[in-house]
Amino acid sequence: MDNTVRIFDTTLRDGEQAPGYSMNIEEKIRMAHQLEALGVDIIEAGFAIASPGDFESVKSIAGAVEKPVVASLCRALVKDIDAAYEAVKGAKHPRIHTFLATSDLHLEYKLKMTREQALARAVDAVKYARNKCENVEFSLEDASRTDKDYMCQVVEAVIKAGATTVNLPDTVGYATPNEIYAMVSNVMNRVPNVDQAVISMHCHDDLGMAVANTLAGIAAGARQAECCVCGIGERAGNAALEEVVMNLRTRHDAYGIGYNIKTEEIAKTAQLLSKITGVKIAPNKSIVGQNAFAHESGIHQHGVMANVKTYEIMTPESVGVKKTALVLGKHSGQHAFSQRLADLGISVAKDVEDKLFAEFKVLADRKKTIEDRDIIALVDAANGHAAGANDFTLKNYVVSSGNKMYSTACVTLEKGGKEYTESAFGTGPVFASIRAVEKIVKHAFSLQDYQIQAVTERRDALGEVTVKIQDASGTYRGKGVSTDIIEGSILSTLDAVNKMLAGVALGSGAAACAQRSFDDDMLSGHTDR
Ligand code: KIV
Ligand code: ZN
Repeated sequence: MDNTVRIFDTTLRDGEQAPGYSMNIEEKIRMAHQLEALGVDIIEAGFAIASPGDFESVKSIAGAVEKPVVASLCRALVKDIDAAYEAVKGAKHPRIHTFLATSDLHLEYKLKMTREQALARAVDAVKYARNKCENVEFSLEDASRTDKDYMCQVVEAVIKAGATTVNLPDTVGYATPNEIYAMVSNVMNRVPNVDQAVISMHCHDDLGMAVANTLAGIAAGARQAECCVCGIGERAGNAALEEVVMNLRTRHDAYGIGYNIKTEEIAKTAQLLSKITGVKIAPNKSIVGQNAFAHESGIHQHGVMANVKTYEIMTPESVGVKKTALVLGKHSGQHAFSQRLADLGISVAKDVEDKLFAEFKVLADRKKTIEDRDIIALVDAANGHAAGANDFTLKNYVVSSGNKMYSTACVTLEKGGKEYTESAFGTGPVFASIRAVEKIVKHAFSLQDYQIQAVTERRDALGEVTVKIQDASGTYRGKGVSTDIIEGSILSTLDAVNKMLAGVALGSGAAACAQRSFDDDMLSGHTDR
């Protein structure tokens, strides 16, 4: 049997469906490039028919990456399959991923179909997809609660119809590892043509078992694992890619299964997702949390100093966490700064590097030591801002604030060589500054989310502010970093406002709504075939 598991990343589809993780096209493409660098075998780029934005993202990703297979999800409906294929057909390696629920619960209450009708629909959908594309995956939604004999019947029939991968999801995160092992073994042992397709796992984490269940499926013969970076996804999320892969690497003795992932890219990938979405990685998150390799207690530190293996089962380097010896500060020159960028795997054009170096010097005047996380935050903010000629930039601001008064802010912005100044008041200095920005740009918006996080630990830490603003056209995310939270707030608002004025909205709101109305379609038995 094939001893390599294919890693199918669904961060940009199942992951992006989760509240707070929506991304615009440009952000999805950045993520897709990093997933390619990570070495994932398949990227599920979206649900093409969900919205025009989703369609465009899938299509752009299909054209942007070379090595991985690019898949689009679609229901077992002609119009969905058509949209999925239109979106992925430009990929070097396209895949149509179609699905239909097979548990009696879903059939009776959601689809209002008999088992026979569902079987026929699955076969028709696979045949139709296979006429368009050589690479077709079929998912039996809610497989873990599907009757085992019926499951074998469906798996056999869809493979006969041309499915090259068959996925057995634990859609609601209900199964135990023993049950998953038995479910996959049953299919491996009883479906006569099972060797003509790859069996796949797709486990949700409602009971915290997604990774364990995925590994149980692999142990029983599944050779594709569907995962999301940092385990994001619907409700409690999907199996975390980094956890599945590092289990296979660290416990090769137990699983004996290979993979194509460059594990050294794992930390960078998780950080990119966090930077793009503004959702911080929990410090104790396995593999990629800030504390994953930190040894705090004296006993542990002593053990690690004597022999690192006492408390470290994998090295930080194996997931791409580098320990740097040299501390940068205000006396560091551009040579040391560019060397550090290179060490961090960041390559930027000379003019961007000069700008970053100037920002680094300003920061070094305010902050004693500059850590890698500070540099990454500066680079990230520069990526986010990429200020064009039509963008507003911050010139200066003054705020006055106190505990027994309204705060006031006077803000000056610049655009196309012209300066604009407005003042506003509010219940706090952040609110007042955002209002002043709103007055200058003469475009009303509401603040949907505001988050501030310290990039590093000490008092002089950089603060990274992430805002989400909304107008009638959509939702826009912005970021700003500064040692001053008012400046960070204005910069992040400007980042979002510039995107709003340029019309670069996030994708998910529309996608989520569209998906809901699809479910309604299915509920009302509307089939369209
Ligand atoms: O959780 C699930 O069952 C899914 C399928 C559509 C693959 O996401
Ligand atoms: Zn799912």
